[in-house]
Amino acid sequence: MTEPLAISFTETDLETVAEASGVVVVFAESGRNLGLAGRRVNRLTHGALKRAVESEAFAKLDHGSALRLEWPAGMAAELVLLVSLPRRCEISVARKAGATIARALGAKGGLVLAESHARAAEVSFGLALRAYRFNYHSAETPAYGPVRFMANNPEKLAQEAQPLAALAEGVFFTRDLVNEPANILTTSDFAARLAAMQELGLDVEILEEADLETLGMRALLAVGQGSESPSKVVVMKWNGGAEEPPLALIGKGVVFDTGGISIKPGAGMEEMTMDMGGAGTVAGVMRTLALRKARANVVGIVGLVENMPDGRAQRPGDIVTSAKGVTIEVINTDAEGRLVLADVLWYAQEHFAPRAMIDLATLTGAVIVGLGHDNAGVFSNDDGFAGDLLKAARQEGEGAWPLPLQPSYDRLIKSRLADIKNSAGRPAGAITAATFLKHFVAPEVPWCHIDIAGVALPPTETELAPKGPTGWGVMTLNRLIADKFEG
Ligand code: BES
Ligand code: MN
Ligand code: ZN
Repeated sequence: MTEPLAISFTETDLETVAEASGVVVVFAESGRNLGLAGRRVNRLTHGALKRAVESEAFAKLDHGSALRLEWPAGMAAELVLLVSLPRRCEISVARKAGATIARALGAKGGLVLAESHARAAEVSFGLALRAYRFNYHSAETPAYGPVRFMANNPEKLAQEAQPLAALAEGVFFTRDLVNEPANILTTSDFAARLAAMQELGLDVEILEEADLETLGMRALLAVGQGSESPSKVVVMKWNGGAEEPPLALIGKGVVFDTGGISIKPGAGMEEMTMDMGGAGTVAGVMRTLALRKARANVVGIVGLVENMPDGRAQRPGDIVTSAKGVTIEVINTDAEGRLVLADVLWYAQEHFAPRAMIDLATLTGAVIVGLGHDNAGVFSNDDGFAGDLLKAARQEGEGAWPLPLQPSYDRLIKSRLADIKNSAGRPAGAITAATFLKHFVAPEVPWCHIDIAGVALPPTETELAPKGPTGWGVMTLNRLIADKFEG
């Protein structure tokens, strides 16, 4: 896994500030006096910092943004970063401040003069997330140097930062998985990476093709039957709670989606290495829960397949029988994610009788048409549960927006030859996909479906991630679990 940036917490020692190399970070609030550390930097720089804090430019800055004082006289540092950060601020502002620091960071690392700032742990979290660099396959990107937070109570700060470090590691695990190409992250390699999490205390079981046949998962198996890589379902259990039934997290893990016989156009097809993003998020959440020893029962189940065209591949027009017994007419082999999820959702209910269920999937291009890359689409059979999820997403700053799931859409996926069909064409494409999944969820089980096609790998950098995968959902689900499933 990509190692998170090295961040340490030490006692405030203003005597060493002049010698610090790389970036020196000062927090300040417009209209307020500098703190002790700021005054020290101001003295070293012969009054430059005070002028900056009192400037109109600083007053106009958004909270969490910074002014740069480059090559300051009187200091060994290359840059003093003056971050606009009120003493009392939202966690989102503190994380943004951390991201601002990350963007200014270089190979020499830095020193953050956190003193007694109440949100310093969140700053370190934002810093870690934005400093993510995936460099498994190229030595070109130089690593960032270490960052030290000088604080008045470094032990307390380190303690606050610990669960956030577990969260960052979960996010990094997800991002790494999404970054990996399909020749490396095969279904078997993916399963092996999940099995390795047994070391963290997770219970991991791998269901092989023969097991899936026995379970009757013909819908899932049909998707993978054109690939050389064997289809698998991986079950990850974290039992940190009491006797209560678990929350089930389900992920779409299509390691590559060519579209199958309904093959996709060539342009941009390389992006379909990210079609396992739902499974990646589930894996990242499970990793975080294990690392922070969450007091909840959660089972993560991912369907790992590759959608390839081949002599053995399924065809448009094929009719498959799902594990539930519902027959499906395969109109379009590119609508494969819902076939995978159908069997995994059913399995989760049959084997775990979960308290609630959430599935994540890079399911439709249509959700990108509707919501772009700012929000995931959230569908649910339970308004209360969806409300909890949306609230958690809002608190974590991950975009999520509700979309409808009414019975009136049911007629769109009726099939002439089977119970339902897997594609209804362009109208309401994200909704008809969710409607398809609804057939495999018992109405009494609170369930949310999250279509993350637009947010798993957005085309530009985001506040807390460099260009590339975001790890969308790890923070939201971790918070939902902490707030609603931990006793
Ligand atoms: N994996 C794709 C959806 C997708 C598109 C994810 C773009 C990320 C970025 C999914 O399997 C798919 O191909 N969906 C089709 C469904 C259609 C054939 C009914 C789509 O959205 O076009
Ligand atoms: Mn597809
Ligand atoms: Zn797909």
